Amino acid sequence: MTALDDLPIRDDLRGLTPYGAPQLDVPVRLNTNENSYPVPEPVVEAIGKALSAELRDLNRYPDRDAVALRADLAEYLGHGLTVDQVWAANGSNEIQQQLLQAFGGPGRTALGFTPAYSMHPLLALGTGTGWIPAARDADFGLTADEAVAQVRAHRPDVVFLCSPNNPTGTALDPTVVAAVLAEAPGMVIVDEAYAEFARPGTVSALAVLPGHPRLVVTRTMSKAFGFAGGRLGYLAADPAVVAAVQLVRLPYHLSALTQAAARAALAHREALLGTVTAIMRQRDRIVAELRARGHRVADSDANFVLFEVGSDQAAAWRTLLDAGVLVRDVGLPGWLRVTAGTPAETDAFLSAMEEL
Ligand SMILES: Cc1ncc(COP(=O)(O)O)c(C=O)c1O
Repeated sequence: MTALDDLPIRDDLRGLTPYGAPQLDVPVRLNTNENSYPVPEPVVEAIGKALSAELRDLNRYPDRDAVALRADLAEYLGHGLTVDQVWAANGSNEIQQQLLQAFGGPGRTALGFTPAYSMHPLLALGTGTGWIPAARDADFGLTADEAVAQVRAHRPDVVFLCSPNNPTGTALDPTVVAAVLAEAPGMVIVDEAYAEFARPGTVSALAVLPGHPRLVVTRTMSKAFGFAGGRLGYLAADPAVVAAVQLVRLPYHLSALTQAAARAALAHREALLGTVTAIMRQRDRIVAELRARGHRVADSDANFVLFEVGSDQAAAWRTLLDAGVLVRDVGLPGWLRVTAGTPAETDAFLSAMEEL
């Protein structure tokens, strides 16, 4: 068998391993921030009908521009957004990849405030965009002044902001987004994958889209909608940004089945988003309980919680796994991340934590 490195692979990919959290067969899986609740039966039926209606026409390519789906997404987002301000792809990862293909690339740079979503630097790598890891403060916070100073120092072509931030969970203060927008010479991408879980009063960057043609807000149906397996992410931005990503997207990138399933899911959004409040309750319960037990815990506006376990987070991760609970070691010394799911999953996690 040929070893990968015997192939004429790009030098910058040589020796790397593929991204991905362990997919282990464990009773309680709380490591990838999925929505723990299965799709409700009426929604299963509606998606089934929508898919079945497409099957006879699978000999034809789908709507390349996914116009009907984008109109539904614009309507869901509100803020007066229209179809020409929304674009969709197979997950927000693909959306961000398309953005880097259009606005990053060889000779250009993207900057993110770490620790943040670990796919951002990998998408930069894959698109040949230079990656600049800027820092958050020791408590994982980010102030407007700190953010502006780092953007001013590096003048990147693309800035990634993540709000609520993964893995820390905390949403950004709107003053940070405003300050970065005023300073950044290029595009500013605000990754709002977890926006629906934010605590009351959290402001979405969607509110500042008018008048900011270099701002892009990315969202996903993977988390709040519980549609991770359906693979549907989207962006909202100025129509010129949508025109730009259309230059790099693959033709027919969104299958007819994906478009139909996502539209059916959106039509039943009340049933799907009905789990959000229950998940937020478990999130707040995890934060409160771990703090009561003396752990340091980051404030969370997402469906997960970052908590301190002492110096050896790898050993703590293993102890929890041995107790049947899979959480995420995000590589932050001393910290682990747990997804908030059902009350029973929280019970299992909190009792496994007694083992530490
Ligand atoms: C911050 C953030 N952005 C984007 C994504 C990607 O989501 P998807 O590609 O499923 O839309 C994730 C997934 O975990 C995430 O945590």
